[in-house]
Amino acid sequence: TTTEPDTPRAPALPDAATVTEVRHWTDRLFSFKVERPRSLRFRSGEFVMIGLLGDTGKPLLRAYSIASPAWADELEFYSIKVPDGPLTSRLQHIRPGDQIILRPKPVGTLVHDALLPGKRIWFFATGTGIAPFASLIRDPQTYEDYDEVYLTHTCRDVAELDYGRELVDSLREDPLIGEMVEGKLFYYPTTTREESPCMGRITTRMEDGRLFSDLGVESFGPETDRAMVCGSLAFNTDMKALLEGAGLREGANSEPAEYVVEKAFVG
Ligand code: A2P
Repeated sequence: TTTEPDTPRAPALPDAATVTEVRHWTDRLFSFKVERPRSLRFRSGEFVMIGLLGDTGKPLLRAYSIASPAWADELEFYSIKVPDGPLTSRLQHIRPGDQIILRPKPVGTLVHDALLPGKRIWFFATGTGIAPFASLIRDPQTYEDYDEVYLTHTCRDVAELDYGRELVDSLREDPLIGEMVEGKLFYYPTTTREESPCMGRITTRMEDGRLFSDLGVESFGPETDRAMVCGSLAFNTDMKALLEGAGLREGANSEPAEYVVEKAFVG
């Protein structure tokens, strides 16, 4: 008898997670869900490293905020598509049933633990920076800790607001969450390069006071307001200056204060 030679088995993908759903929002934006690893615990607002195996066989990983709430069975992510981006040029083609790599070690600064108690919480996002807030606006703790919750989202075009707008609408219509967010969650979308009811950078609307007058907020300061910021480097820098100017101090897990910042994934 002859013995079969050992067939080399393909190495199992490390930390594999199966894709369950993919949605393309614009030619630049898509969201997807993967099965949640059983052991994965995270705090709303945190990110994980996800990616694919690169051509050399080495994992190609990037930091992605978890957009789903901590109670959900699946993990949701919201991503830009960069035509020549090493990861997103390939990741944008994933389909249900495919596997991605997901390192199950959530971390990040956009967490409730990094802020001192306050009356209002502001989530300031540009572009895909809305992802961590998509998690936080579905977290009951957000509504237990604060009287008022403000989500601002600034994008170039109206279509880029769709992901956030649809999410906010779905929360308001949800029989359980609807009650929790009613009269507490305020959504403030703005566009900068296409006509919409509310135009301009959020930083400009803060400086000239229209953000606050539109929302009927009479004062903004460290006694009442807490903020989380997620966007491009330039956006984060400008927001930090505005928040510091209003008297808020940057917090961290180890030393909570009045605001926290994190860079959105951009490529
Ligand atoms: P703008 O069109 O005026 O640059 P991007 O797609 O480049 O990441 O930008 C997303 C949104 O963030 C755009 O509407 C953009 O406005 C806005 N933005 C970019 N930089 C800043 C900044 N420093 N302060 C406020 N908003 C910004």
